[in-house]
Amino acid sequence: MELLKTENLKKYFGEVHAVDGVSISVENGEIISIVGPNGSGKTTLVNLVSGGLKPDSGKVFFEGKDITNFTVHKRVKIGIGRSFQIPAIYENLTTLDSVLVSIFSHEGISNIFYRTKDKFDGAREEAIKLLEILNIPVKLVSELPHGQRKLLDVAMVLSLKPKLILLDEPTAGISLEERDEVMQTIVGFIEEQNIAAVIVEHDMEVVGEYSDRIVVMHEGKVLKEGGKEILEDEEVRRILIGD
Ligand SMILES: Nc1ncnc2c1ncn2[C@@H]1O[C@H](COP(=O)(O)OP(=O)(O)OP(=O)(O)O)[C@@H](O)[C@H]1O
Ligand SMILES: [Mg+2]
Repeated sequence: MELLKTENLKKYFGEVHAVDGVSISVENGEIISIVGPNGSGKTTLVNLVSGGLKPDSGKVFFEGKDITNFTVHKRVKIGIGRSFQIPAIYENLTTLDSVLVSIFSHEGISNIFYRTKDKFDGAREEAIKLLEILNIPVKLVSELPHGQRKLLDVAMVLSLKPKLILLDEPTAGISLEERDEVMQTIVGFIEEQNIAAVIVEHDMEVVGEYSDRIVVMHEGKVLKEGGKEILEDEEVRRILIGD
Protein backbone atom coordinates (compact mmCIF):
# COMPACT_ATOMS: atom_id res chain seq x y z
CA MET A 1 0.00 0.00 0.00
CA GLU A 2 1.11 3.53 -0.68
CA LEU A 3 2.18 5.09 2.61
CA LEU A 4 3.47 8.49 1.58
CA LYS A 5 2.79 10.52 -1.51
CA THR A 6 3.86 14.04 -2.37
CA GLU A 7 2.08 15.80 -5.17
CA ASN A 8 3.85 18.55 -7.09
CA LEU A 9 5.46 20.05 -3.98
CA LYS A 10 7.02 23.46 -4.35
CA LYS A 11 9.07 25.50 -1.90
CA TYR A 12 10.87 28.62 -3.00
CA PHE A 13 13.18 30.79 -0.91
CA GLY A 14 13.08 34.03 -2.85
CA GLU A 15 14.81 33.31 -6.14
CA VAL A 16 15.91 29.85 -5.05
CA HIS A 17 13.60 27.09 -6.24
CA ALA A 18 14.62 24.67 -3.47
CA VAL A 19 11.87 22.16 -4.23
CA ASP A 20 10.27 22.67 -7.58
CA GLY A 21 7.39 20.32 -8.32
CA VAL A 22 8.35 17.08 -6.59
CA SER A 23 6.01 14.09 -6.74
CA ILE A 24 7.29 10.96 -5.03
CA SER A 25 5.69 8.04 -3.28
CA VAL A 26 6.82 5.50 -0.70
CA GLU A 27 5.20 2.12 -0.17
CA ASN A 28 4.74 0.46 3.21
CA GLY A 29 8.08 -0.88 4.41
CA GLU A 30 9.96 0.53 1.42
CA ILE A 31 13.37 2.13 1.80
CA ILE A 32 14.05 4.95 -0.61
CA SER A 33 17.17 7.04 -0.83
CA ILE A 34 17.31 10.61 -1.97
CA VAL A 35 20.57 11.62 -3.57
CA GLY A 36 21.70 14.77 -5.33
CA PRO A 37 24.37 17.44 -5.19
CA ASN A 38 24.56 20.06 -2.43
CA GLY A 39 21.64 22.43 -2.60
CA SER A 40 19.50 20.18 -4.79
CA GLY A 41 16.60 20.33 -2.32
CA LYS A 42 16.89 17.07 -0.39
CA THR A 43 16.66 18.51 3.11
CA THR A 44 13.92 20.91 2.08
CA LEU A 45 11.92 17.98 0.72
CA VAL A 46 12.39 16.06 3.98
CA ASN A 47 11.25 19.13 5.93
CA LEU A 48 8.15 19.43 3.78
CA VAL A 49 7.28 15.81 4.61
CA SER A 50 8.06 16.12 8.33
CA GLY A 51 6.07 19.35 8.55
CA GLY A 52 9.01 21.54 9.53
CA LEU A 53 8.27 23.58 6.42
CA LYS A 54 5.00 24.38 4.68
CA PRO A 55 5.00 24.12 0.88
CA ASP A 56 4.16 27.11 -1.33
CA SER A 57 1.99 24.70 -3.28
CA GLY A 58 1.41 21.00 -3.71
CA LYS A 59 0.24 18.35 -1.29
CA VAL A 60 1.44 15.65 1.08
CA PHE A 61 -0.62 12.50 1.60
CA PHE A 62 -0.04 9.87 4.29
CA GLU A 63 -2.04 6.64 4.13
CA GLY A 64 -4.25 8.35 1.60
CA LYS A 65 -5.03 11.29 3.85
CA ASP A 66 -4.16 14.87 2.95
CA ILE A 67 -1.79 15.99 5.75
CA THR A 68 -0.42 19.11 4.06
CA ASN A 69 -1.70 21.32 6.86
CA PHE A 70 -0.78 19.01 9.75
CA THR A 71 1.69 20.32 12.34
CA VAL A 72 4.94 18.46 13.04
CA HIS A 73 3.44 17.12 16.25
CA LYS A 74 0.38 15.76 14.48
CA ARG A 75 2.57 14.10 11.85
CA VAL A 76 4.64 12.41 14.55
CA LYS A 77 1.40 11.16 16.09
CA ILE A 78 0.21 9.54 12.84
CA GLY A 79 3.55 7.82 12.35
CA ILE A 80 6.04 10.07 10.61
CA GLY A 81 9.28 9.93 12.57
CA ARG A 82 12.08 12.40 12.19
CA SER A 83 15.22 13.06 14.13
CA PHE A 84 15.07 16.24 16.13
CA GLN A 85 18.73 17.12 15.83
CA ILE A 86 19.03 18.67 19.26
CA PRO A 87 21.49 16.22 20.83
CA ALA A 88 23.25 18.98 22.78
CA ILE A 89 20.36 19.05 25.26
CA TYR A 90 20.95 15.42 26.15
CA GLU A 91 24.67 15.68 26.75
CA ASN A 92 24.26 15.13 30.52
CA LEU A 93 21.59 12.45 30.31
CA THR A 94 22.21 8.78 29.85
CA THR A 95 21.27 7.10 26.60
CA LEU A 96 18.43 5.36 28.43
CA ASP A 97 17.05 8.64 29.81
CA SER A 98 17.25 10.16 26.34
CA VAL A 99 15.06 7.45 24.84
CA LEU A 100 12.66 7.76 27.78
CA VAL A 101 12.43 11.52 27.27
CA SER A 102 11.54 10.84 23.67
CA ILE A 103 8.82 8.33 24.60
CA PHE A 104 7.36 10.64 27.25
CA SER A 105 7.43 13.73 25.07
CA HIS A 106 5.39 11.82 22.55
CA GLU A 107 2.74 11.04 25.13
CA GLY A 108 2.54 14.61 26.34
CA ILE A 109 4.31 15.89 29.42
CA SER A 110 1.18 16.04 31.56
CA ASN A 111 0.60 12.32 31.14
CA ILE A 112 3.84 11.56 32.94
CA PHE A 113 2.29 12.62 36.22
CA TYR A 114 -0.56 10.20 35.70
CA ARG A 115 1.67 7.31 34.75
CA THR A 116 1.35 4.28 36.90
CA LYS A 117 4.55 2.57 37.95
CA ASP A 118 3.66 -0.33 35.65
CA LYS A 119 3.50 1.91 32.66
CA PHE A 120 6.74 3.62 33.56
CA ASP A 121 8.49 0.28 33.91
CA GLY A 122 7.03 -0.78 30.56
CA ALA A 123 8.50 2.25 28.82
CA ARG A 124 11.83 1.61 30.53
CA GLU A 125 11.89 -1.98 29.35
CA GLU A 126 11.00 -0.89 25.83
CA ALA A 127 13.81 1.67 25.86
CA ILE A 128 16.35 -0.85 27.15
CA LYS A 129 15.35 -3.35 24.47
CA LEU A 130 15.67 -0.75 21.72
CA LEU A 131 19.14 0.29 22.93
CA GLU A 132 20.17 -3.34 23.03
CA ILE A 133 19.01 -4.05 19.49
CA LEU A 134 20.83 -0.96 18.23
CA ASN A 135 23.99 -1.83 20.20
CA ILE A 136 23.96 1.41 22.16
CA PRO A 137 25.41 1.10 25.67
CA VAL A 138 23.62 2.61 28.65
CA LYS A 139 25.94 5.46 29.57
CA LEU A 140 26.19 9.24 29.52
CA VAL A 141 25.56 10.70 26.08
CA SER A 142 28.72 12.80 26.49
CA GLU A 143 30.74 9.58 26.62
CA LEU A 144 29.45 8.20 23.31
CA PRO A 145 31.54 8.21 20.13
CA HIS A 146 30.02 10.11 17.21
CA GLY A 147 28.66 7.02 15.41
CA GLN A 148 26.74 5.92 18.47
CA ARG A 149 25.36 9.42 18.97
CA LYS A 150 23.88 9.31 15.50
CA LEU A 151 22.41 5.90 16.35
CA LEU A 152 20.95 7.29 19.57
CA ASP A 153 19.32 10.04 17.56
CA VAL A 154 17.72 7.38 15.37
CA ALA A 155 16.79 5.29 18.44
CA MET A 156 14.90 8.26 19.84
CA VAL A 157 12.89 8.51 16.64
CA LEU A 158 12.30 4.75 16.52
CA SER A 159 11.03 4.78 20.11
CA LEU A 160 8.03 6.69 18.79
CA LYS A 161 7.15 3.64 16.66
CA PRO A 162 6.86 5.44 13.34
CA LYS A 163 5.48 3.88 10.15
CA LEU A 164 7.84 6.09 8.18
CA ILE A 165 11.21 7.38 9.31
CA LEU A 166 12.98 10.32 7.68
CA LEU A 167 16.76 10.25 7.97
CA ASP A 168 18.78 13.19 6.70
CA GLU A 169 22.34 11.95 6.24
CA PRO A 170 22.42 9.43 9.10
CA THR A 171 26.08 8.64 8.44
CA ALA A 172 27.32 12.23 8.15
CA GLY A 173 30.53 12.70 10.08
CA ILE A 174 30.90 9.00 10.83
CA SER A 175 34.19 7.36 9.92
CA LEU A 176 34.18 5.03 6.91
CA GLU A 177 34.82 2.01 9.15
CA GLU A 178 31.88 2.78 11.42
CA ARG A 179 29.53 3.76 8.63
CA ASP A 180 28.65 0.32 7.40
CA GLU A 181 27.88 -0.97 10.86
CA VAL A 182 25.69 2.01 11.71
CA MET A 183 23.70 1.68 8.49
CA GLN A 184 23.36 -2.08 8.87
CA THR A 185 22.06 -1.64 12.38
CA ILE A 186 19.51 0.97 11.34
CA VAL A 187 18.40 -0.81 8.18
CA GLY A 188 18.25 -4.20 9.91
CA PHE A 189 15.89 -2.81 12.52
CA ILE A 190 13.58 -0.90 10.19
CA GLU A 191 13.36 -3.87 7.81
CA GLU A 192 12.53 -6.19 10.65
CA GLN A 193 9.83 -3.82 11.92
CA ASN A 194 8.58 -3.15 8.38
CA ILE A 195 9.11 0.59 8.82
CA ALA A 196 9.37 2.61 5.63
CA ALA A 197 12.29 5.02 5.29
CA VAL A 198 13.32 8.04 3.30
CA ILE A 199 17.09 8.35 3.62
CA VAL A 200 19.10 11.30 2.37
CA GLU A 201 22.59 10.00 1.75
CA HIS A 202 25.82 11.18 0.14
CA ASP A 203 27.70 7.89 0.27
CA MET A 204 26.85 6.08 -2.98
CA GLU A 205 27.97 2.72 -1.64
CA VAL A 206 25.53 3.02 1.22
CA VAL A 207 22.81 4.09 -1.19
CA GLY A 208 23.34 1.20 -3.58
CA GLU A 209 23.39 -1.36 -0.84
CA TYR A 210 20.32 -0.48 1.19
CA SER A 211 17.76 1.17 -1.05
CA ASP A 212 14.72 -0.42 -2.64
CA ARG A 213 14.55 2.65 -4.84
CA ILE A 214 16.67 5.72 -5.46
CA VAL A 215 15.43 9.22 -6.24
CA VAL A 216 17.95 11.58 -7.80
CA MET A 217 17.29 15.27 -7.23
CA HIS A 218 18.78 18.14 -9.16
CA GLU A 219 17.92 21.82 -8.78
CA GLY A 220 14.75 21.09 -6.85
CA LYS A 221 13.41 18.54 -9.30
CA VAL A 222 13.42 14.76 -9.53
CA LEU A 223 15.91 14.04 -12.27
CA LYS A 224 15.51 10.25 -12.22
CA GLU A 225 14.26 7.47 -10.04
CA GLY A 226 14.69 3.73 -10.10
CA GLY A 227 16.81 0.84 -8.86
CA LYS A 228 20.52 1.08 -8.13
CA GLU A 229 21.30 0.78 -11.84
CA ILE A 230 20.43 4.47 -12.19
CA LEU A 231 23.63 5.27 -10.29
CA GLU A 232 25.42 4.10 -13.44
CA ASP A 233 23.36 6.40 -15.66
CA GLU A 234 25.62 8.87 -17.42
CA GLU A 235 23.60 11.99 -16.67
CA VAL A 236 23.20 10.95 -13.01
CA ARG A 237 26.91 10.30 -12.68
CA ARG A 238 27.80 13.63 -14.20
CA ILE A 239 25.53 15.46 -11.77
CA LEU A 240 26.63 13.53 -8.70
CA ILE A 241 30.31 13.78 -9.51
CA GLY A 242 29.90 17.51 -10.05
CA ASP A 243 28.96 17.50 -6.36
N1 LIG B 1 15.71 28.47 5.09
C1 LIG B 1 16.24 28.75 3.91
N2 LIG B 1 16.32 30.03 3.48
C2 LIG B 1 16.86 30.33 2.28
N3 LIG B 1 17.33 29.42 1.42
C3 LIG B 1 17.29 28.13 1.80
C4 LIG B 1 16.75 27.74 3.06
N4 LIG B 1 16.84 26.39 3.14
C5 LIG B 1 17.39 25.97 2.01
N5 LIG B 1 17.68 27.02 1.19
C6 LIG B 1 18.27 26.92 -0.16
O1 LIG B 1 17.51 25.99 -0.89
C7 LIG B 1 18.35 25.16 -1.71
C8 LIG B 1 18.14 23.71 -1.34
O2 LIG B 1 18.66 23.49 -0.03
P1 LIG B 1 18.61 22.09 0.70
O3 LIG B 1 19.16 22.30 2.06
O4 LIG B 1 17.26 21.53 0.60
O5 LIG B 1 19.61 21.23 -0.19
P2 LIG B 1 20.25 19.81 0.07
O6 LIG B 1 20.03 19.00 -1.17
O7 LIG B 1 19.77 19.25 1.35
O8 LIG B 1 21.81 20.15 0.17
P3 LIG B 1 22.99 19.45 1.04
O9 LIG B 1 23.41 18.24 0.28
O10 LIG B 1 24.06 20.50 1.07
O11 LIG B 1 22.45 19.12 2.40
C9 LIG B 1 19.77 25.67 -1.46
O12 LIG B 1 20.08 26.58 -2.49
C10 LIG B 1 19.68 26.36 -0.14
O13 LIG B 1 20.64 27.38 -0.04
MG1 LIG C 1 20.72 18.65 3.13
